[in-house]
Amino acid sequence: MLKTIFRRRSIRKFKEVPLQEEEISMMLKSAMAAPSANNLKAWHFMVIDKRELLDQLAEIHPYGKMLKQAPAAILVCGDIQKQAVMGYLALDCTAATQNILLAATAMKIGSVWLGVYPREQRMDAISKQLKLPEHIRPISLIALGFADENKPANNPWTPEVIHNNKW
Ligand SMILES: Cc1cc2nc3c(=O)[nH]c(=O)nc-3n(C[C@H](O)[C@H](O)[C@H](O)COP(=O)(O)O)c2cc1C
Repeated sequence: MLKTIFRRRSIRKFKEVPLQEEEISMMLKSAMAAPSANNLKAWHFMVIDKRELLDQLAEIHPYGKMLKQAPAAILVCGDIQKQAVMGYLALDCTAATQNILLAATAMKIGSVWLGVYPREQRMDAISKQLKLPEHIRPISLIALGFADENKPANNPWTPEVIHNNKW
């Protein structure tokens, strides 16, 4: 687990190799194991592997050009009817997002988190393109695929952000 955390990097170049159904299922299962406020689990996951849709999302998302190469993506969404506090809904969905990234890394699948919430323009454009129901809010989009680039493991130790007992 610890190795996986440090090995995870944002991958933006992908090989033309499709993901297996079991790999996607394991990522979704990992997402559903994330903590959520009041254990409401108000999330939904849209698995996107149609080339046409991936290309459309690449056009919509200002920093999502890698979707043109990615064989799949997962859109993590929240149900505002189930969790009415938008802040919690977003936090729950981002915990699920991180679990997807870590599960992907553990299976040697590359991934990159594409921010959607709280950018209203992106949220509206994606909702419209994918015809999401009114009560469903897109929170994050994850491009997935086998990496066509090598990145070193994360080495993030910055002691200045740690505060022991007092600031
Ligand atoms: C909320 C959020 C939004 C992000 N949005 C994008 C994005 O739109 N496009 C992108 O290429 N990377 C995006 N990233 C990935 C970051 O750029 C990346 O995590 C950061 O540069 C650190 O690199 P690493 O993930 O390889 O450690 C996003 C990350 C987060 C947490």
